[in-house]
Amino acid sequence: MTMMQQNIKKPHVRILPDDLANQIAAGEVVERPMSVVKELVENSVDACATRILIEIEQGGKFFIRVTDNGVGLSSEDAQLAFLRHATSKIRNASDLERIVSLGFRGEALPSIASVSKIRMITSDDEHRGGTQIVIEGGGTSNVKEISCPRGTTIEVSQLFYNTPARKKFLKGDGTESSHISQVVTQQALAYPHVHFTLINNDRKVIDVLPTDQNLYRIAELFGADLAKELVLVTAETSDYRLNGFISSPVYTRSSRSAQYCYVNQRFIRDKVIFHSTQHGYSHLIPRGKHPAIYLFLTMDPKLYDVNVHPAKAEVRFAFQQEVHRFVSGAVKEALSASKNIALPNLSLTGHKNNMTQPQKKIDFTETMKSSYLKTQSSEDLSSAVEFMYKVPELKAYDSMNENHSRSQIEIFHDKPNPVANLIYSEFEPLGQLDRSFILMQGKLGILVVDQHVAHERVLYDQFSKAAKNRKSEVQQLLFPLSLEFSHGESELLGRYQKRLGELGLELESFGKNDFLLRSVPAILKKNNHAEIMREIVDMLPTENHEEVLNNKFEEILIMMSCRNAIKINTTLNLSQISKLISDLQGTSMPYTCPHGRPIALLYEMDTILKKFLRK
Ligand SMILES: Nc1ncnc2c1ncn2[C@@H]1O[C@H](COP(=O)(O)OP(=O)(O)O)[C@@H](O)[C@H]1O
Ligand SMILES: [Mg+2]
Repeated sequence: MTMMQQNIKKPHVRILPDDLANQIAAGEVVERPMSVVKELVENSVDACATRILIEIEQGGKFFIRVTDNGVGLSSEDAQLAFLRHATSKIRNASDLERIVSLGFRGEALPSIASVSKIRMITSDDEHRGGTQIVIEGGGTSNVKEISCPRGTTIEVSQLFYNTPARKKFLKGDGTESSHISQVVTQQALAYPHVHFTLINNDRKVIDVLPTDQNLYRIAELFGADLAKELVLVTAETSDYRLNGFISSPVYTRSSRSAQYCYVNQRFIRDKVIFHSTQHGYSHLIPRGKHPAIYLFLTMDPKLYDVNVHPAKAEVRFAFQQEVHRFVSGAVKEALSASKNIALPNLSLTGHKNNMTQPQKKIDFTETMKSSYLKTQSSEDLSSAVEFMYKVPELKAYDSMNENHSRSQIEIFHDKPNPVANLIYSEFEPLGQLDRSFILMQGKLGILVVDQHVAHERVLYDQFSKAAKNRKSEVQQLLFPLSLEFSHGESELLGRYQKRLGELGLELESFGKNDFLLRSVPAILKKNNHAEIMREIVDMLPTENHEEVLNNKFEEILIMMSCRNAIKINTTLNLSQISKLISDLQGTSMPYTCPHGRPIALLYEMDTILKKFLRK
């Protein structure tokens, strides 16, 4: 035996005490105040609450309180709920395969209790009274009878007070509270029939009224300006259903921050979904830009597993490719179907009128209110409960006006807007501006169309249709063009010879690195063919992956369209203009070019009248 080995004490396997085990679990489940809010709100949703109030102080680091009007708990169940792996949501292994609730592990409450001071007040029947449980740092609980209305309130204070290492990693109040409003927004989108309120340091940050329309919930949370840009998505197969809204291609963001995807009403960040929606937009939006997405996927819980991520923020689909194909197809179809459909006019006045009145009225009667307030002993809780009762609908509308000034759509559009859904033939061509932009007039105002990008869209559609049907109109070259490439390039050309042939680029290899170009797509007949071939070779993918390949070939189509589109500074007469515009209307997406740039701007008649003080 060496000296070292002699000094080491022989280890023993031990089972950790419950409070320590809970703290370890909390390490995964409770990352920051936002995680506490997420777990508590999920519990309220699982308890069928129609009213959920979230109050936070100092970014939730000092204080979080979630109050709901859900089914509540009996005294016995309330005490059990703080034990590890205690849950009312599943019973056996087969339940794990068909989870319909948001929670199922029975870990949240004991984890939160192990790293904070927690107080629960709950009742499943206000006539029989309720229970208060207070626990500090996962220690023993202090239970007493209390009178309270049906529902549950959970207060979490001094998060991580007993785990300083964790506490150190928390960010400033602003950052933590913005995480929290994100998480409340995510839940509020999925449950439009629930009245959600978030109060941060006494300031109402979110207050959304119940509705049965997802679109109104979106408008309330993000403003009607965004909602106006949305396109309806609905699709269904025997296994999957997809509902929701996505932005038209003229509305983009530089991050995915406006993307909300749900599987059976659970918010998830999932690669397959992200990728499939992106694929659905394909070349309608510029690279590096992202659409706004609110999509709700419904499917049998057996077709995916949620038990793969501590925060349940990811799922594993049983048939990834199938989901991918379904979602991207639905997105594509929605975008192309939407092109001539005027979107609902979501002016704020319209928004108010159309807004369905709260579906399920808040389920508190006057009697419950007075009986509770009379017997309520803890002062600070009364404010929350009072709030739960008060919130009359009218007041909520006012506060919507205050808090959501973004959504005031009586906005007077000084700027021209990229168009997303009008019918070009309703406009009459007037001529050109600067030999580059087509001017048209109609009832809606003046339309300015970028002639180059409009033509680019027309050509791109022709190219891709022909390529899809494998019958490009081909121009045989009178004198085949001989081209020499490097070894690597010829290898690539050889590999894609057939596919290029389908585009109308017929190549014949002769000698080691030499090719004869025998034909070109008819549209390319005037181009410098050698130059185009070099450009194409540079674009050919070295990976043989089907998807990369499709993307690359699409890029080649875009490049060929761009090269041949009418340039700016080109005179067009009225009949050329009419032809271009009617071709444009017939394309799959007449409002953005294949690079994602807008094709037309509308100077609204309304604006013109207002500016001339005629309105
Ligand atoms: N707001 C609430 N209303 C009613 N019951 C609740 C509420 N919060 C928690 N519970 C009960 O406590 C149990 C444990 O909650 P939790 O630790 O979050 O685990 P899980 O949600 O995974 O079941 C739940 O299964 C539920 O029965
Ligand atoms: Mg839970």
